[in-house]
Amino acid sequence: MKKLRLGVLASGGGTNLQSLIDSCADGRLSAEIAIVISNNPGAGALERAAKAGIETCCINHRDFADRTAFDHSVVQQLRDAETDLVVLAGFMRIISATFIEAYPQRIINIHPALLPAFPGLHVQQQAIDYGARFSGCTVHFVDAGVDTGPIIMQAVVPVHEEDTAEDLAARILVEEHKIYPRAIQLFAENRLHIEGRRVRILPAPPPCNGAMHNPGLEG
Ligand code: GAR
Repeated sequence: MKKLRLGVLASGGGTNLQSLIDSCADGRLSAEIAIVISNNPGAGALERAAKAGIETCCINHRDFADRTAFDHSVVQQLRDAETDLVVLAGFMRIISATFIEAYPQRIINIHPALLPAFPGLHVQQQAIDYGARFSGCTVHFVDAGVDTGPIIMQAVVPVHEEDTAEDLAARILVEEHKIYPRAIQLFAENRLHIEGRRVRILPAPPPCNGAMHNPGLEG
């Protein structure tokens, strides 16, 4: 069977990209990364991709008059690479309607908070400032809103009393690296079915049992 071809968009260090590269290599993810595109010439993600022998492309958003022109160029590269699924992995640009129309229900994102809480930027600091006892990460389909699309998978981590945004971001990243490859594998297996706001996984995985309490119930 033809492997799902991923087009990964990343702006930063690329640890999520690395987890996808590693998951493809060890067989947890039956997909191949066709291209890695960054808007940031200095992105560590480009280096990681090059090291893994993956085609890279830098499209600097500063070279474009507006978002639509930039997105048009990105979509062209994705098409040239015969991308099946667009994977946003720390891509810090909002994507336009043109982009979404080019890949309907075929763009997914990972966000470092438990959506719908804390969409947008600096979300680890937002969770701390709000006093949330838990935060986490969310893999979701991308729609026309900012971090509003149907949710595929989430992971929860505690927020500790003395956490800095960096501490919390690091704790969340560990879980991002687990759930993103898994969510993409479910897509690759054609198990994700969007029904309105909800994503149904078929056949259904075992239910998640057990509650977490922070602080714990004892002591
Ligand atoms: C990750 O925490 C990801 O969830 C977040 O950027 C980080 C990228 O890290 N994405 C967003 O905030 C999207 N709005 P990485 O470059 O090491 O994968």
